[in-house]
Parts: sequence; structure tokens; C-alpha cells
Amino acid sequence: MQIGKTIERIKELAAKDNLIITKNALETLAKLSNCEEILRKLAEKNRDIITTELIEEFLPKPKIPATKPKAKIEGTSKVDTSVKVLKSCNSIEESSSAGKAENFLQMFRHRFIVLKKILSSRHTISAIPIKGIKNLREREEFTTIGMVNRKWRTKLGHLALEIEDMDSRIIAVARAKSHAEEVAEKVLLDDVIALTAVKLSDEIIAIKEIEWPDIPVRRARRLNKEIFLVTTSDLHVGSKLFLEKEFYKFLDWINNPEEELAGKIKYLILSGDNVDGIGIYPQQIEELEIPNIKEQYERLSELLLEVPKDIEIIICPGQHDAVRWADPQPAIPKEFFEPLLKERKIHLVSSPSVVKVANLNVLIYHGVCYHDIIEQLSYLRLTEPEKIMVEILKRRNFMAGYGISRPYVPDTAGYLLIEHEPDIFISGDLHHKGVANYKGRILISNGTFQGQTTYQREQGHVPTPGVVYAVNLATGQILEKNFLGGSNNE
Ligand SMILES: [Fe+2]
Repeated sequence: MQIGKTIERIKELAAKDNLIITKNALETLAKLSNCEEILRKLAEKNRDIITTELIEEFLPKPKIPATKPKAKIEGTSKVDTSVKVLKSCNSIEESSSAGKAENFLQMFRHRFIVLKKILSSRHTISAIPIKGIKNLREREEFTTIGMVNRKWRTKLGHLALEIEDMDSRIIAVARAKSHAEEVAEKVLLDDVIALTAVKLSDEIIAIKEIEWPDIPVRRARRLNKEIFLVTTSDLHVGSKLFLEKEFYKFLDWINNPEEELAGKIKYLILSGDNVDGIGIYPQQIEELEIPNIKEQYERLSELLLEVPKDIEIIICPGQHDAVRWADPQPAIPKEFFEPLLKERKIHLVSSPSVVKVANLNVLIYHGVCYHDIIEQLSYLRLTEPEKIMVEILKRRNFMAGYGISRPYVPDTAGYLLIEHEPDIFISGDLHHKGVANYKGRILISNGTFQGQTTYQREQGHVPTPGVVYAVNLATGQILEKNFLGGSNNE
């Protein structure tokens, strides 16, 4: 069969099973004699986005000489446990801006180009530019890619979006109580989306379907050696509400030679709000045990000195730390950890950042933009932070609507975009624990080591303090250790 005909046949089968295939994967499949069988198996496994990597699982493996010993699951097999920082904004200078209109324009253009490229790589998306709509006939169906500029209800109760690309803009409408409305409700301002629609006029189109850049489904990557990554966040050292006694229980556990799991820990990741800071909110001074930020970090350093030296410590900032409030938040300056750095190495990274640990990509982000997302999507809750994290991965973007409530720096280096697909995504900020598995990736929202604050009590938000998560990198299993006296779950 000619390759063109094979491609058409694959597209036909993919449409039947609702599969999306990246363009590279489509080319790879078309060259394989058993492409139909591979496609059927992927559909049976409920894979929705087919990548080249997924197809490679079905290709014959190179033969290993019989004399070579098989890799062991535990113990002796070698894993490079070093930490490599793949993406981190190390200082304000690396992501600074005059904050002028042209800086924002550059940032939005950069974001549009990156996310459009991701969407365009799918075989199902063959998009035309918005200006091309005027050349179509009325009622003709098409797909276009744009950024959402406005979202509102029309007088007749329909949902309307204004979307734009580099040259033009158009109004897209979803009829009230339709499937299109249900999908369009989930759109956030500044989202980059692929919109399949029907032309109503040169100015208005009717929405049929919407796709976000999203991450592809992938078989979870695991190590062939049992090592653990532990994570927690929002310690708020310096606050009168910092649960120091409970944090010492964690330190005792991590140092206990009789704890088999603790002996296998290689990484500790703290995802922000490491100290309580100064002047973060009115009357904070009355709630501080240590009213000096330098001394707060000194206290934190004393605590971290208790962590065994063979555990790599990775720290990102939050809005209570000694960096700017706006995302991306640069790494906390080294001078705050001077006493600790004389004794041991630590990795100070930005929020967001990507680090490679034992060959797995870990995306670390404190959580500033979560508040903007909750304000726009009514079905999200502070008590289900993992669902907010899914929305971030779908959009591959941390800036969920500029100007809603949180500050952002117009950054063209892409720190706020998710270009590295993560194996693990770790977050904090909401003081509420939550875990999820999304498309083969592990999502962890850390709780806190701070008791309930006055503000949280007034808001009716009940935090989940004292929890540390331990991830077994060989199995993907997540163990929840509760140092406040609750039960430990897997
Ligand atoms: Fe916090």
C-alpha cells in the first residue's frame, strides 16, 4: 500500500477510536507493516494522544547478549541520583522587564507561538489562520488556533469568546445549554486553544469543539532501583503557628536507621513558603515568633542541617519567601542560607522550575496562579488542589489570566510555560494535601507545617498540616506520612 493510503487508513481508524496522533507518530506508524495492530492495542489501553514514544514500545527491542545479567529491581543496579536543574530562573535579572505594554505583547506572542506549535503537532489539527475564515463559505466547518481575549454572556444567554492570533480576531459563540457551552465554560482568559467551529459570518463563528495543548498520555517512567523522593511545603518557619515539634518528628523519622524507607530517601523537595516572611499581610507581626527574615532563614537552616547529607535538598520559593511576589519567582538568594551552605549543598530553584532527578523530570511550582484559576472555574475547590494542577498541565501555562488578582512579570524566556513534560509535578500554597495521577504523571499538592491561621479560619479553609509525601521512584507508589498523629496511607 502506498504511504499516502496508509496514512489515510490510520486517520480513519484513529477517528473511529477517538485517538489523536502527533504528526511525527503518524509518520512513524505509516512505515510499520503492523500499524493497524499497534493502533488497536493503543486504543485498548485507552491512550488518547499517540506519541512516537508510545509507538516505540511496540517496536522490536535490541537483543541483549545472554551472558549479560538482568537489571535488578532493588539494590545493586546503578542509577545516577544527581540533580540536574533543567529550567530555573536564578535571579531577577534573568526574568526582568520594564513592565511596558511592548513587554507584555512580546510575552503573549511568545506564548502563542510555543503553544500553537504544540497544538499544530497533532494530526487531528489542521488549522487555518483567523484571517482565512473570510474565504470560507457560510456553514463551512474548520479549525483555527487562537488566544482567548474576552469571555462573556450575550444578551440571549449564549457564551461568547473573542479569540485572536497574530493578525486577526473573531467572535466565537457557544449556544446556551449545548455541548459547546459546556466545553467553552472551561476556557480561561489568555488560554491558547484549537477551536473547531462553523462559520456563521465573517465576524462570528459557532463553536463545536475546543482542544487545549495538554500533555500526552505516557506510560509512567519508573526506576529499576527503589529510591524515594520526599516532599512537603509551606513550613512557614518564624510563624507562631509553625509546627516545630511535628517537623522534628519528621526529622527523627528521616534519621532513624531502623526505618527501612527513610534509608532509601535520596531527595527532599520543599515547594515554597519556607519561612513566614515579614510584612506579607496586615498585623502579621503579631503572629510572628521570629520577626526578622534573616533569622527566620537561619532557623530553617538549623532544621535542614538535621537532614542526612546524602539526601539532595531542593527548595523553591513561595510568596512568603524573600523574593518578589510576581511569577516567575526567582530562586531564593544564597545569602539567606549561608550557614547551611557552609555545611552542605542545597539546590535553590525558582517557582516554577524543572529539575531532573534520577532521570525523571520533576516540575516544581509553589502555586501563585491557583487563586486566579479558582476564581474563573467554579467547579474547582481549595480542598482539591490536585484538580487545579490538572488544569495547569492541560494549558501548559502558569499564567491563567493576566490582571485577575495575582502579579506576573512579562517574561519571554518561557519560565511560565510547560515545555518539558513532567514525570512528577509538585506544588504547595493552598495548605491542603492532594495527589493524583494524570496521564501517567504523578501530581502532588503538599499541605503545610503551619497550624490554621486567623485568615484561613475566617475563610472557613481547613488546612491539612503535618503531612510529608514519600514517592517510591521504582513503583510510583505514594506514601503519606502524617507527623501530626493522623494515619499513614498509601
Ligand atoms: Fe503557605
